[in-house]
Amino acid sequence: MSGLFISFEGGDGAGKTTQLTRLAEWVAQATGQEVVRTREPGGTELGRSLRQVLLHGSEIDARTEALLFAADRAHHVAALIRPALARGAVVLTDRYLDSSVAYQGGGRELSAEQVEELSLFATDHLLPAVTVLLDLDPVHLPERLTGDPDRLERAGGEFHRRTRAAFLDRAARDPERWLVLDAAQPVDVLHAQIRARVAPLLGGDQ
Ligand code: TYD
Repeated sequence: MSGLFISFEGGDGAGKTTQLTRLAEWVAQATGQEVVRTREPGGTELGRSLRQVLLHGSEIDARTEALLFAADRAHHVAALIRPALARGAVVLTDRYLDSSVAYQGGGRELSAEQVEELSLFATDHLLPAVTVLLDLDPVHLPERLTGDPDRLERAGGEFHRRTRAAFLDRAARDPERWLVLDAAQPVDVLHAQIRARVAPLLGGDQ
């Protein structure tokens, strides 16, 4: 595969979408390479149906929830991410498998190992070259959320503290893949840090 795969992770309201957009614009401008922006859940048509059920449907048990996120991811990888990487594109995804390990493993208290195994099966072991973690203390959650909270955003402070701890724990185990940033910093400062990490992985001389 010749493209570059980057994921953005973090709690709800940490600013992932803003940073992903900034990076996408910069990569396209600096390299002229194709940039594919996507997200989980809901990066494909099937995924958009699953997203609706997962975020706005009725309550579901933890295992069913984990399997539906994994199904969304399997199809996302097969139908969108792998073909884009094969074309040489830079693929930026707003959430990927680490969200499942943190939310379904850490948050919902399934076994993190089992959730990871499920996701690795779903993706046939495709991992990002870089995962940006926008780390934010969940005390900031209420002021950062806009609109009606979805099913996971309503899960409560303790849930979000466990999720955050799970992200940080995973990042500490694999510093080669993870870039951990304090999401309370200004948008421009965060963007510069992300660019510095990604630039050497791109072709050309940006
Ligand atoms: P989204 O609107 O994308 O939230 P955010 O803007 O915070 O990224 O909704 C995704 C929600 O789904 C978010 O609360 C995290 C949760 N989620 C999981 O629980 N497991 C997963 O595997 C993924 C991809 C997301």
